[in-house]
Amino acid sequence: MTPPKEKFSVPRGMRDFYPEDMAIRNHLFDSWRQASAHHGFEPYDAPVVETLDLLKRKSGEEIVHQIYAFKDKSGRDLALRPEMTPTLARMIAARQGALSFPIKWYTIAQCFRYERMTRGRKREHYQWNLDIIGEPSVSAEVEVIATAVQGLRLAGLQDGDYFVRYSSRRLLAELLDTLGIPPDLHAATFLALDKKDKTDDIGAQLVGESFTDAQWASVEKILNLESLDEAGELLPDDSESLAQLRQFTQSLSHYGLENIVRFDISVVRGLAYYTGIVFEAFDAKGEFRAIFGGGRYDDLLRDVGGKPETGVGLGFGDVVVCELLEALGRTGAGHTRVDVAVGYMSDAQRPAAMRIARELRNNPSAVDLALSSEKPKQFFSRVGGGHYKEAIYLGPDDVDSGKARMKDLETREEREISIP
Ligand code: HAM
Repeated sequence: MTPPKEKFSVPRGMRDFYPEDMAIRNHLFDSWRQASAHHGFEPYDAPVVETLDLLKRKSGEEIVHQIYAFKDKSGRDLALRPEMTPTLARMIAARQGALSFPIKWYTIAQCFRYERMTRGRKREHYQWNLDIIGEPSVSAEVEVIATAVQGLRLAGLQDGDYFVRYSSRRLLAELLDTLGIPPDLHAATFLALDKKDKTDDIGAQLVGESFTDAQWASVEKILNLESLDEAGELLPDDSESLAQLRQFTQSLSHYGLENIVRFDISVVRGLAYYTGIVFEAFDAKGEFRAIFGGGRYDDLLRDVGGKPETGVGLGFGDVVVCELLEALGRTGAGHTRVDVAVGYMSDAQRPAAMRIARELRNNPSAVDLALSSEKPKQFFSRVGGGHYKEAIYLGPDDVDSGKARMKDLETREEREISIP
């Protein structure tokens, strides 16, 4: 007896996309591309394999431990990118003299992270990236958020299904300074705040990291701030970060986003390179992981060997938004629709069917030409499931008369066409 053959499955955390999954993915990517184009972003792309050193030095702390790294046959240290931002910075730095700023670029990039698998987290995902390089004012933040919101709307979400929460690392640093937390403890505070929802007791964590009880009490006070005005009460009148955030909120209202985008002091983001305003989108019920996240990163270009240049951007993954759309029953059609199905009764009608398909495809329509002959009942039950809009079925009489009937599969109406 021959031993049973081994069956392979997709590697853990990776996904296969069957046609019904592709229909959903394509709809999402179309929404992303359309929103990017509507807001004047230009597309770019780069290889999925990146130099390990760039990623190690320029990604956030957590991501570095999740990198899929390998050596090529010449011993180079390479990796599958876990995010796009270091690559974007590398590309801009390489052509900095030739580019005219500000630049608005977007891409849809597959990214790989060896993460612990939870809802909303895979080891591979597609990430829509929107970035504006070279715009120091908050117009850049508002523009990328507005673009992402249009992407969400086009994908099928409605206002009220989600919120964008923002804060500012500069504001947080100013608050920490004011309350006497020394700058060398700021980074630890940012990271602890980022883990706030995942860690039961960030107080114990921070006190463990050489915070005194009084310093922790100050952090707690900051964490309890509920509005920008409350934060303002703790800061001097000439606070720069506060002035910037006020401009930001004014611009949001001109964009009609004031009810969607809200202040939340606890938003800090896990990546190390952010320097200013940071933001994340969540479903309204707070059941899912972040839908998208981003912020200002003003030092990254300089850090990858370029001239100093400001940056603002966001990453918007495909996993969470699809889970949310599914939970809300808004994923839409499960298959890509084909315009016309063409079938025939016997091999004698195949040449005519081929000529019809050729003419329709040049039209251009999407045509599915039967690969072999079928009985009429078989043909109409195969094509009647909603996947096709119209159908043509050829029998010997049709070919003899030089005319065929094009049937609308929804209304059942028929119209005559000539066979070429
Ligand atoms: P991030 O917050 O690490 O930021 O990821 C952005 C988004 O990518 C997340 O909000 C989520 O939608 C998706 N995502 C991340 N990891 C996974 C995963 N393991 N499985 C599924 N989805 C995931 C960045 O990557 C920044 N580079 C974004 C950015 C662009 N900042 C400035 N420009």
